[in-house]
Amino acid sequence: MDWPALQQTVAGCRACALCQGRTQTVFGAGHQQGQWLIVGEAPGAQEDALGEPFVGPSGQLLDSMLQALGLSRQTDGEPNRSVYIANALKCRPPANRTPQAQELQACAPFLQRQIALQQPRTILAMGKTAAQALLGDPAPLGQLRGRVHSLGGSSVIVTYHPSYLLRSPGEKAKAWADLCLAADTAGLPQK
Ligand code: URA
Repeated sequence: MDWPALQQTVAGCRACALCQGRTQTVFGAGHQQGQWLIVGEAPGAQEDALGEPFVGPSGQLLDSMLQALGLSRQTDGEPNRSVYIANALKCRPPANRTPQAQELQACAPFLQRQIALQQPRTILAMGKTAAQALLGDPAPLGQLRGRVHSLGGSSVIVTYHPSYLLRSPGEKAKAWADLCLAADTAGLPQK
């Protein structure tokens, strides 16, 4: 399946009960040939309304984190400075509850196909759900951070979810260390 066929399949998906509560699916956004993939958890209310990932307050923080590294979600930038953004789940869970294991399992083939099409060099997993969806490792986030995991041909760096950082700003220094690890691993020249 190419990108348009995949997007169309996601839009019509009824593989789990989340399809009943969605306004629309949130497929992903950004540069499909970017060397970076950002993986979040699931759409929230604003993402469900607009059909784009990370457009609410946590999206604003994500954009500032990306900007600090010289990265952006624009679709026409240089591939080594461009990100694609997708979530582990493409539909909003009711009241933004944590995704359930069977929902993650039902949605996993979509994220896997996005990764296969994009072939990102570096994947940033935002939070425990994203890390678990990518790595299948149920270890606490603290144990997954601080090292480079590998997934196919991509390096995976795990960091805190921006929503958590909004609630716990004292952890931002650790998130910055994770971003620096990601930039070093990607060989990103610092601006
Ligand atoms: N949180 C996520 O994990 N993804 C979004 O798209 C928005 C908020």
